[in-house]
Amino acid sequence: MENRLCDIYDRFAATYDANRGLFDMTGILEDFYSRLGGKKGRLLDLGCGAGEPFARFFADRGWQVTGVDFSAKMLELAARYVPAMETRLADMRDVEFAAGRFEAITAIYCLFHVPRADHAALFERWRRWLRPGGKALFTYATKAYTGSDEFDGTKRFMGEDLYYSHKRPEALYADLERIGFAIETKECREIGGETFLWVTIANPLGPA
Ligand SMILES: C[S@@+](CC[C@H](N)C(=O)[O-])C[C@H]1O[C@@H](n2cnc3c(N)ncnc32)[C@H](O)[C@@H]1O
Repeated sequence: MENRLCDIYDRFAATYDANRGLFDMTGILEDFYSRLGGKKGRLLDLGCGAGEPFARFFADRGWQVTGVDFSAKMLELAARYVPAMETRLADMRDVEFAAGRFEAITAIYCLFHVPRADHAALFERWRRWLRPGGKALFTYATKAYTGSDEFDGTKRFMGEDLYYSHKRPEALYADLERIGFAIETKECREIGGETFLWVTIANPLGPA
């Protein structure tokens, strides 16, 4: 089912473009940015879509940004709005980067499209890709969005059946802690009528 998601997002691209800047995420962006210590670095934005607002916020502040998305049409928008961003047209589960390459990783409104059985393996790779002390911010679906404690299935969104998947928050936190991350923030936020869990994690200062 998730294989069709890239085609669905290709079809969504024009609507995304028309709704640019609809929701103000300044507070979230500034909170995460302030946790990174004020230095410029490298950001990996997974499921970057059109590159806004996260990739652009960092690129505007002199960060080197790499975006990964499997929708070619969303990446066409990203090339327009964040021309400085290097992009990869790929499934986020298939990309590879050097150990310690990034100071920060973001995965905003996209992990819920990845089967939960693959989440821990993805977090293990984030742990490797982040430098010691690096941080990641991601959104995660919960019962507040899907109606179930854990979920693997489709939900109707903008006229399409989209695949969503998530574990219970406690199982997510247990994965993150087993992998070695420190959980800095975990907060349910309602934005635009939809509630998701926003999580900030930190790589410990020692080697992964
Ligand atoms: C809801 S949009 C969010 C885009 C952007 N992060 C934002 O905050 O506006 C989800 C994006 O994730 C991408 N995506 C979903 N699953 C993906 C996967 N497994 N690999 C790469 N991209 C994926 C979609 O193509 C889409 O552009």
